[in-house]
Amino acid sequence: MREKAYLREVGLRDGLQMVKCILSSDRKVEWCREEAAAGVGEIEVTSFVPPKIVPQFADAVEVAERTGKIGGFRLSALVPNLKGAERGFELGVHKLNYVLSASETHNLANVRRSTEDSIEDFRRIVQARAHRGLGSVALGAGVATAFGCTMEGAVDEGRVVEIIDRLLDAGADEIIVADTVGYGNPAQVRRLMGRVVERCGDVPVAAHFHDTRGLGLANVTAAVEAGVRRFDASLGGLGGCPFAPGATGNIDSEDCAFLLESMGFDTGIDIDALIALRQKVETWLPDEKFYGMVAKAGLPKHYRPASALAA
Ligand code: COA
Ligand code: ZN
Repeated sequence: MREKAYLREVGLRDGLQMVKCILSSDRKVEWCREEAAAGVGEIEVTSFVPPKIVPQFADAVEVAERTGKIGGFRLSALVPNLKGAERGFELGVHKLNYVLSASETHNLANVRRSTEDSIEDFRRIVQARAHRGLGSVALGAGVATAFGCTMEGAVDEGRVVEIIDRLLDAGADEIIVADTVGYGNPAQVRRLMGRVVERCGDVPVAAHFHDTRGLGLANVTAAVEAGVRRFDASLGGLGGCPFAPGATGNIDSEDCAFLLESMGFDTGIDIDALIALRQKVETWLPDEKFYGMVAKAGLPKHYRPASALAA
């Protein structure tokens, strides 16, 4: 048996939050269904934020309800505060990914309060889950701008680690470390992710990279070396934070799956199915720029998924 690595599709959330054209709920559900059929284990289907802040997610409740009926994958959604988490609890979402920022300036721009207040709100979310007896709902805690911020510049690694310690203490089930604006480099990733993996012990660590400066996949390799086995990625490399100046797309899902499989990890993903879906999504969003190389070049002739290879 090959070691497993896990890819979480964030195209329906991070990918779409910058897209001006509102994709219909039907298409979002179709995207999700086909992505699940391609073997992607976790899909972040929407974001529970006020529609006036991100109009793309005005249909969050409908999308969560309909994708919740598909089955066969872990259904997650982004939440910026307790109010968003309450919606997720009510809708039966399997996992909620909470977001705060290591950069105080980005936290204020993105969620309109201090990082300290965001940490306190995460504690309230953990309490609310206990209050509802919903122990089976996982709470991921994401630290944005962990590798730098386009408004503040460098972000202190000690601060990132300290925030993560507090999120673990509050009861996070997964820690997501995010390079929101694509400032990270492999040496930095190996160093910081190594520290985070050590702090987290049995709590899984996920990496969320943007490919803004072309180092996205190099950073994945460095994170793998540091012990990370969970990665966020976006179909066609769509994405970016509307409240972080200069932010662009996530690492591309098809390329990320190909990289992990090529490194010998079993992702469970049918890359050709992912490429076919990406080509369909491209026709739905003709004004968007799509990234990624494997979809253009195709898989190598002798390619076999890691699961089909001898251990
Ligand atoms: N979902 C839906 N509505 C929400 C909400 C949520 N998660 N949180 C707050 N609201 C509503 C409130 O009920 C209130 O409604 P009202 O005006 O009808 O009374 C209104 O939004 C303002 O509430 P408030 O608590 O004052 O929020 P805010 O204006 O300080 O904004 C956030 C805080 C967190 C809701 C907002 O900054 C946000 O959504 N940020 C996320 C941005 C994002 O998606 N970034 C990209 C992903 S990293
Ligand atoms: Zn992102």
